[in-house]
Amino acid sequence: MTIPAFFQPIAVAAGVDGWLVHLDDQAAQAQNLDLLDAAERERAARYHFDVHRRRFVAGRAALRCILAGYCPSPPWALEFAYGSHGKPELAACPQITFNMANADELALVVVTTRRRVGVDLERLRPLPDVEELARSTFTPAEVARLRGLPVTQRTEAFLNGWTRKEAYVKAIGTGLATPPQSFEVSLAPGAAPRLVRLPAADDLGRWRLHAVRPAPDWVGAVVVEADARQESVE
Ligand SMILES: CC(C)(COP(=O)(O)OP(=O)(O)OC[C@H]1O[C@@H](n2cnc3c(N)ncnc32)[C@H](O)[C@@H]1OP(=O)(O)O)[C@@H](O)C(=O)NCCC(=O)NCCS
Repeated sequence: MTIPAFFQPIAVAAGVDGWLVHLDDQAAQAQNLDLLDAAERERAARYHFDVHRRRFVAGRAALRCILAGYCPSPPWALEFAYGSHGKPELAACPQITFNMANADELALVVVTTRRRVGVDLERLRPLPDVEELARSTFTPAEVARLRGLPVTQRTEAFLNGWTRKEAYVKAIGTGLATPPQSFEVSLAPGAAPRLVRLPAADDLGRWRLHAVRPAPDWVGAVVVEADARQESVE
């Protein structure tokens, strides 16, 4: 079987590979259900809208093709295991760690080794009431920092904060079971991305946050455990 490449590498950080998947790409659409396992096919069948089904199939096919480059197995034979909150990992290659985020026509997959990793991406778009959204998801200190920014920067700042928070809760694997108001991240467009404060049981020194621009008008974030060996050489 020929596996067309409808994903492209994007820079994240040393030792962390990023792959951007264009879910509406013709090659992606040509991928068939044969690459998916029974549970994935069942899930695909449950989508109400065709566009969502096609994107899901394309995303899973891409994920499998990407991971087959790291774990010696054909894409369709890869088996996933799931954490208590649904985080997938490779059953046969647990040392290869990965995470995936989907939004509209794009998906972002990050892959590394032996380190927990999480990713999120969002399209930069007008949001109806950024301050209200921030009040329901950010800490009071973050809301104050958002309000301190020029109005023209607040939407991007909100999406920076949101993607950074999601990338962190996906890295630790709990997802939104960890309240986004239980920790803080930097927001300001153009400033260095930073985890500011983490939930009490966690340690800031353990994690690295990377901001990515997967495409024009898109923002993304990757949170990955620090690699003590690599950083001692740099
Ligand atoms: C993880 C979570 C934040 C994803 O949010 P989202 O914005 O809807 O989706 P994204 O596109 O960013 O990410 C989805 C991908 O993240 C991965 N993922 C799923 N659960 C995850 C988790 N707990 N941690 C990290 N990654 C996870 C999967 O690859 C998923 O892809 P899929 O939908 O094709 O299966 C959200 O689903 C969540 O909070 N899940 C936990 C819910 C929970 O506690 N469940 C318990 C019973 S399983």
